[in-house]
Amino acid sequence: MHAIILAGGMGTRLRPLTNTIPKPLMPLANMPFVDRVIRYLAGHGVERVTLALGYQADCFKRHIARTKYPIDVGYVVEDEPLGTGGAVRLAARDREEQVVVMNGDILTDLDLAAMIASHVQRGADISISLKRVADPSRYGLVLTGADGTVLGFVEKPGSGEAATDEINAGIYFFEPWVVGEIPISGSCSLERELFPTLIDRGARVIGYRQNCYWNDLSTPDDYLLAHRDILRRAISADVPGNKVNGTWIGEGVEISPRAEVEAPAVIGDGCHIAAGAHVGRYSVLGRGTVLARRARVERSVVWERNRLEEDCRLSGAILGDGCVVYPEVELPEGAVCASGTRIPAKSHSVREAAGAGAVAIGDGRHSGTGVQGVRQLSSSR
Ligand code: GDD
Ligand code: MG
Repeated sequence: MHAIILAGGMGTRLRPLTNTIPKPLMPLANMPFVDRVIRYLAGHGVERVTLALGYQADCFKRHIARTKYPIDVGYVVEDEPLGTGGAVRLAARDREEQVVVMNGDILTDLDLAAMIASHVQRGADISISLKRVADPSRYGLVLTGADGTVLGFVEKPGSGEAATDEINAGIYFFEPWVVGEIPISGSCSLERELFPTLIDRGARVIGYRQNCYWNDLSTPDDYLLAHRDILRRAISADVPGNKVNGTWIGEGVEISPRAEVEAPAVIGDGCHIAAGAHVGRYSVLGRGTVLARRARVERSVVWERNRLEEDCRLSGAILGDGCVVYPEVELPEGAVCASGTRIPAKSHSVREAAGAGAVAIGDGRHSGTGVQGVRQLSSSR
């Protein structure tokens, strides 16, 4: 079976992290997210995956070249964004087989085999996975009849305008002929164009409901929540490292006997945690990260090779690769720091930025940018 992963989006709501790395390559519990998606598909009978790439395709190419996968993994690259439909048209070269299509930012344990069985049993042309969510306004709503037949779509209604709490969960199963209906040139959206057009023409488009874990990693909050859910086993997912007293610990880790680590947490290969340092529960430290004396990390995700100097504090923060947090700096709750950012001691900007909402620090394009890039991520909360 063939699957297409849509992975060409810009991940704007996760800037500045996604200024230097596409969202599907961001680590999730110390493993690139796309590798989790590929393993998920392989575990559900998919034998061949095509990544539909655009934004920062070169990062993906390098990653795929150095990674061993249990199934065939290829890619296509768009010169300019073709939309979700145009991307599927490009990636589905062989029009003879059914195809799974999946947004590249979905963490789920949906039973794909059960979805496909329902597709066959109901004689569907397209099956669309559905999910009930508390706040549907930032997703694509799917309106269905009593028997699950899809009647229409409302993409991203404003808050208070949602006619249903059931959303498009971003996983589809197509009969082979469906891809041939996508216009040959130009951009096309599955959700806004192809599906509504095919419904008008009488295609059997069926919504598939299942009680499963689902998170689409759109915002810093979603990203932190996904880590929390993996660590508290709300979804079963591999985490690199050996589990010791509820914490996953990598190779070559040094933890002072006078440091404190609260489970569940993840400590990547080669991390050093000095005396008096504290790693609070639901924290993840990427490879080669150093916590100097009395550094405190709570509910935060820190990528690789970060240096957290003495007495600094992070809570609910996300740090890209290779940041330095200087001594005594206390990052505001929810800070999101671009890779390569240096956050100097007693920085006024950081203190002023503290307050409601996530705070983006650095732009990820220049290392050593200090805190000049501080801005509120108001739309993400
Ligand atoms: N190759 C390619 N080309 N991929 C694209 C393009 C494109 O032009 N545009 C978007 N993608 C990819 C993104 O990388 C992402 O993995 C997926 O398609 C969906 O795009 P998003 O930008 O993440 O859309 P969204 O999250 O706002 O909305 C979509 O997902 C929701 C569920 O998470 C829609 O499908 C909604 O209907 C749905 O509810
Ligand atoms: Mg998305």
